[in-house]
Formats: sequence, C-alpha cells, structure tokens
Amino acid sequence: MSATAKRKVLLMGKSGSGKTSMRSVIFQNYSARDTRRLGATIDVEQSAVRFLGSLVLNLWDCGGQNAFVDNYLTAQKDTIFANVAVLIYVFDITSTEWENDVRYFEEIISALRENSSDAGVWVLINKMDLVDKEDPKRKKYAERSEDIVKIDERVRSEMSDDGRRGGLRCFPTSIWDESLYKAWSSVIHTLIPNINLITAHLTYLRDICMAVEAVAFEAETFLVISKSGSPLDSNEAELDDQETRYGAGSLSKHRFEKISEIIKGFRKTCQRTGESFTGFEAKFDDCTVVLEPLTQNQFVLVVAADPIVESALIQYNIYHSQSHLA
Ligand code: GTP
Repeated sequence: MSATAKRKVLLMGKSGSGKTSMRSVIFQNYSARDTRRLGATIDVEQSAVRFLGSLVLNLWDCGGQNAFVDNYLTAQKDTIFANVAVLIYVFDITSTEWENDVRYFEEIISALRENSSDAGVWVLINKMDLVDKEDPKRKKYAERSEDIVKIDERVRSEMSDDGRRGGLRCFPTSIWDESLYKAWSSVIHTLIPNINLITAHLTYLRDICMAVEAVAFEAETFLVISKSGSPLDSNEAELDDQETRYGAGSLSKHRFEKISEIIKGFRKTCQRTGESFTGFEAKFDDCTVVLEPLTQNQFVLVVAADPIVESALIQYNIYHSQSHLA
C-alpha cells in the first residue's frame, strides 16, 4: 500500500446497544468486563485508527440517545452522512422497543442512502449472549434480521435503486465471545484497498509451505485481514484445489475469529506478566501450526496437515516472505 487511504466508518444504534463497548474491545484492548465502566457517548466521538500502516479508519461513534439521533437526522444530516464508506448499525437483541428501534433504523438508512449511496451497511444484532441460552435456534435473531433486510429493500425501492447502492449484511454479536471479531473482520476486509494482492501473497506462501492455509491478522487488533485460497467466508464449492485436497471445508467455520480472540487474550496476559509476545508454534498429531510476524503490522498463521512439513520449513519461508514484503 502506498498513499494513505481514509475511510469514514459510522457507528450508530440506540443508546446502550454496545457501540462504544465494541470499539473499545476491538481497538483499545478493553476486556468485555471493562466496558461496564463506560458512560453514554455525548454527541459524536471521532477517532482515527491507523490500520495496516496506510489505511486510516475515521470512526464516528454516534451517541444513541434520542435527542442526539434526532439531531443527526436534521441539523447534522449533511455532515454525518456524507462520504461514508461503511455504516455499522448496532441493535440490542434484548430491546423491548423493537418497533421504535426499526423506525429509527429506517430513517438512518434512508439518510445514508441519500448521501452516500454506495456505502456498505453492516447490521450487528448485539448482546446475543443474553438470549442464546433460552433461544438456541436463534429464532429471534432470524426474525429481526429479516425485518432489517426488508427495511433496506423498501428504502432501495423507494429510491429506485440502480444497483449501485452498497449491500447490507447482518451478524449476531456479543462482546463476550469471538462473534465480535467475525463481524468486524468482515467490515475491515472490504476496506483494505489491496486485498487481492495480500490474498495472492498468502496463497503463494501456503503453496510453498505445502500447507492447508495461511491467514493474515492485523497486528494490533488481531482482526483477520485475509486468507489464502478462496475468500474468507467462502462455501465448500468455492474452495481452491489445495483447500479441497486437504479437506479445509471440514474445518470449523469459526476458526479465524476464535484465534483472534485467543491470541488477543493471551497477549494481554503476557503484558500483565511483563512477557513479550512474539509468536508461537505448536504440533497436534500430524498438524503443524506456526504464528509469526509477517510485516510491521501483520501476523501470519500457517497451518500444515502433512506430517513431512516441519515447523522449520514454515519459519524459513515466513522469514523470506518478511524481507520480500517489508
Ligand atoms: P451510547 O453511548 O449511549 O450510544 O451507548 P452505546 O451503544 O455506546 O453502549 P455502551 O457500549 O456504552 O454499552 C452499554 C452497556 O452494554 C455496557 O454496560 C456494556 O458492558 C454492555 N454491553 C455491550 N455489549 C454487550 C454484549 O454483547 N453483551 C452484554 N451482555 N452486554 C453488553
């Protein structure tokens, strides 16, 4: 990446839905428990997060109390909704005012589509930890996400969408588990300008290591940037030859975000005990796993399932990739 790319990310949703909590867990190393100390956001809190060296995320955390939201939709409309790359809208699954919540969402999505027609929309239905036990099939989530998709479709048809408007994606999240990393990795993945080049490098590294996959993580947040072979959320039919040969389709769909969560937790423990975290390697049966820094702002995880692949081979190839990508 050469020139700095700036992307405006709006974080909106009703007060108490968990916007500032998410931002603090992902970008400021808060634990879920720490977020209980957070107060309500007053108006808009802007912060700039440098990502992968030359991508700057301008995060606009918009306080969700009704008086502020009414102001965003009137006096501040042109400022808030102009030049938006992504809107992340957070709902609280436990809310007892669903009709009111969706009415606000509809107004916000209309204002966004008017001012930033090609912005992507991520809807995070948060606090799933509070309902999952009594609703294991996630019926409530399914119904609420359906309502949201319908609203977006209605707004699009009212605006006679010409197909250029950005899409909408829904994720169930909780700050207490790895689901938060899945949702935010999905957002970030779409904002990185040279993502195809990164994916091609990872695929090359995977192939010379005779590995199942190579995955890149951003060094600070540990969000997944990209993986070798097929796209991040690909289904079985989209896997490339090497992934099919090694049975990557049967691996857990949640493996990337679980690694993000585990490594971030482990790194925090290292910080507390005064140790520095530089990477790790492990062997399980025939599987060899190596996690090492790849560039100043990326870690790479290489997983090999062939017993002839030694961790020294993987480390050797990562070492040579480091000098190539530095
Ligand atoms: P405003 O700033 O008023 O717009 O609110 P906000 O959306 O930023 O909410 P905030 O992040 O301040 O979170 C409110 C409370 O919800 C905090 O006490 C968090 O600990 C809690 N919270 C956030 N996310 C979750 C979650 O996924 N599960 C649970 N159980 N609690 C959460």
